[in-house]
Amino acid sequence: MNYQIAVLAGDGIGPEITDGAIRVLQKIGEIYHHTFEFTHYLMGGCAIDETGCPLPEETVKGCLASDSVLLGAVGGPKWDSLPGDKRPEKGLLGIRKALGLYSNIRPAKLWSSLAHASPLKYELVKDGVEIIIVRELIGGIYFGERGLDEIDGEKSAWDTERYSVHEIERIARIACELAMKRSKIVTSVDKANVLESSRLWRKTVHEYAAKHFPEIEVRDVLVDNMAMQIVKNPAQFDVVVTSNIFGDILSDEAAQVTGSIGMLASSSLGDTTLGLYEPIHGSAPDIAGKDLANPIATILAAGMMLRDSFGLTKEYEAIEKAIQSVLDEGYRTADIYSEGMKKIGGKEMAERIAAAI
Ligand code: IPM
Ligand code: MN
Repeated sequence: MNYQIAVLAGDGIGPEITDGAIRVLQKIGEIYHHTFEFTHYLMGGCAIDETGCPLPEETVKGCLASDSVLLGAVGGPKWDSLPGDKRPEKGLLGIRKALGLYSNIRPAKLWSSLAHASPLKYELVKDGVEIIIVRELIGGIYFGERGLDEIDGEKSAWDTERYSVHEIERIARIACELAMKRSKIVTSVDKANVLESSRLWRKTVHEYAAKHFPEIEVRDVLVDNMAMQIVKNPAQFDVVVTSNIFGDILSDEAAQVTGSIGMLASSSLGDTTLGLYEPIHGSAPDIAGKDLANPIATILAAGMMLRDSFGLTKEYEAIEKAIQSVLDEGYRTADIYSEGMKKIGGKEMAERIAAAI
């Protein structure tokens, strides 16, 4: 098969990590007889520099015309002083919205060979941790009405969180479908003791699950308690569904608990197979261009693309196994390095993973 992949390398370490993932996809193509065609488009800070806009029209068109999108990371200090709607991040939020990608799946898994990289006590993680965060991606406060004005001569800024029943139902469906293949338990995270939008969230998730997935048990956890439980006993969670902002925050936390944010990939999908696949980490401008960045999250994201957009499960498994074997051989990038291991650069890590396929 021939697959068209749009690549949005972005800023900072974005180009080096997407290069690593492309290298691995090329190897998969050779072995499993697929052709992957990569077309690069501008998005984020690099797009601002070239075109003045974080998400050029051509990028949206190119992504819509492709089979799927691979993304690196966007942003950096260079663009930090721009107004909100001109920032690199606006490009990322904009492409998610333009492609209708409401469902963001972020599996935080502890790799057995990295159990010692977790900042948690070994007893807490030794039996494995796999938290699958299902984050609503194109609603809530990141897309709500906002403003900057003045009250009595004093500057004042505001953002709003709004969720409609259908937005909650469609993300609840994704979480329930996933949980049906796993523990049949969905943890729904909200702040229903304070927020009106959370109360509707909670009610809707329960009603939806009871009606369409009677076998699923929905457990509610308040977001502040959730932040604590993730470090207290992460193994208690399986599928977690939550809003855009809570999912953003909790997925970084879950990533660190499982070793390194450099290991976590995510898929974003809507109602078609055209998805966007990216690492959950940012553009790390401080280490950009130094060959220090860990490409594994992006390589895993590319693997998720094969599995979730193209139905290539064997190929996904081959990537996962290759990563595991390179880790088992003791190779580590700086972020997951521990004493006695072999420290290598990001480029070599990608090469080794490609070679292990
Ligand atoms: C993420 C990032 C983005 C988000 C930013 C860069 C807009 O933090 O993908 O988690 O908040 O969604
Ligand atoms: Mn984030």
